[in-house]
Amino acid sequence: MLSRKASEDSHGQDSSYFLGWQEYEKNPYHPIHNPSGIIQMGLAENQLSFDIIESWLERNSDAMEMKNDGISVFRELALFQDYHGLPAFKNELVEFMAKIRGNRIKFDSKNLVLTAGATSANEILMFCLANPGEAFILPTPYYPGFDRDLKWRTGVEIVPMHCSSSNGFRITSSALEEAYQQAKNLNLNVKGVLVTNPSNPLGTTMSKIELNHLVNFAIDKNIHIISDEIYSGTVFDSPKFVSIMEVINERSFENDEISKRVHIVYSLSKDLGVPGFRVGMIYSNNEKVVSTATKMSSFGLISSQTQYLLAKLLGDEKFTFKYMEENKTRLKKQKETIVSGLRNAGIRCLKSNAGLFCWVDMKHLLSSATFEAEKELWKMILYGVGLNISPGSSCHCSEPGWFRICFANMSQETLKVAMRRIKIFIDSNSRMLSIKQPFVTNANYYRTRKEIIN
Ligand SMILES: Cc1ncc(COP(=O)(O)O)c(C=O)c1O
Repeated sequence: MLSRKASEDSHGQDSSYFLGWQEYEKNPYHPIHNPSGIIQMGLAENQLSFDIIESWLERNSDAMEMKNDGISVFRELALFQDYHGLPAFKNELVEFMAKIRGNRIKFDSKNLVLTAGATSANEILMFCLANPGEAFILPTPYYPGFDRDLKWRTGVEIVPMHCSSSNGFRITSSALEEAYQQAKNLNLNVKGVLVTNPSNPLGTTMSKIELNHLVNFAIDKNIHIISDEIYSGTVFDSPKFVSIMEVINERSFENDEISKRVHIVYSLSKDLGVPGFRVGMIYSNNEKVVSTATKMSSFGLISSQTQYLLAKLLGDEKFTFKYMEENKTRLKKQKETIVSGLRNAGIRCLKSNAGLFCWVDMKHLLSSATFEAEKELWKMILYGVGLNISPGSSCHCSEPGWFRICFANMSQETLKVAMRRIKIFIDSNSRMLSIKQPFVTNANYYRTRKEIIN
């Protein structure tokens, strides 16, 4: 009765990443109304600096009320439907992107395409760069949403490039080459590599050396690079963020063609914490990509009201400066709380300098070095400890035992409750750990939950 797309199961909604969200929805933690509920640590949201935006909105009610110098612009906005977007908004966006990169590069608003979030931007780029059945290489671990965003409607394939904990999950030339060969063995035509920089889920920025490996590879294979830089404004610690565009600009004398095969994806969902506003974009030096993507953006435009409001917000230099600095300070503090809380429970994280999450090593808590054991531990932490975290397998990590834990969607107090629960959980199971028994048996499952949550 229904189309193949509607009947098949390729959306990825059944992965543990999304299942954890569903469990959280059934029993969400609230410090007063539901203190034994599940704490959502599987959602990369940034709620730490809402107060700064709210106080700007209070001082600038004109922008919310669709007024300019007290005069209503409602009619203009109500009728606005140009898929190129409001010029004033695009100008502010490119300024904002340049600021995040320390003004080391300039962006031209002519090369910018507005989309309904980075989700839509990534999918549009797939439609522009690859045919159904062609492939993109993605370093693992990667953002679980990519299976849906890149593959589901486009028919494009993902070839995972397996990165290893032995070098902090860094991108190497040999790993790129291996993934390329793997694609060839599967008879897949590789059209490009997509990286997330800073990485979700690692919370690390790519070094210039890695970026140069990537550029060399793309030149050598004559393919595209997509750099999803959605977390570029969250870099709260050194080393500083280096965008792929900086490397491309530095090497433009060498190969001008490559600059037309490099495309940035960005969004305000993370840096500004407004995923509900659905503001995303593609930046590309390739005229054909820009014009095709602009036509495609008709299927997911940003409302003119949102564009108007955010043009005013980002146009306030004092605000953007204060917001970006304060937001990074708060992210850093939150990250330090989680790292020390986990360390206190004998759990370590990959060293990170960006993002809204930590990449956490719980290999020592697995009953065996398998993905089944990882899932067992994930369930235990979800149902027994009351924390929804994301298992590495949902990010296609090739080594069992890693988990992504988000920290920016909650207050310091809630984060401390979460850390206390983890600590009690580990302590009450340490005897089993020391004699290497399967970590938690059903018999003490409920006892553990009771001890931790009540
Ligand atoms: C790497 C990455 N790309 C894209 C997205 C989607 O973002 P948006 O809300 O702008 O669609 C996310 C959201 O978590 C993400 O982590």
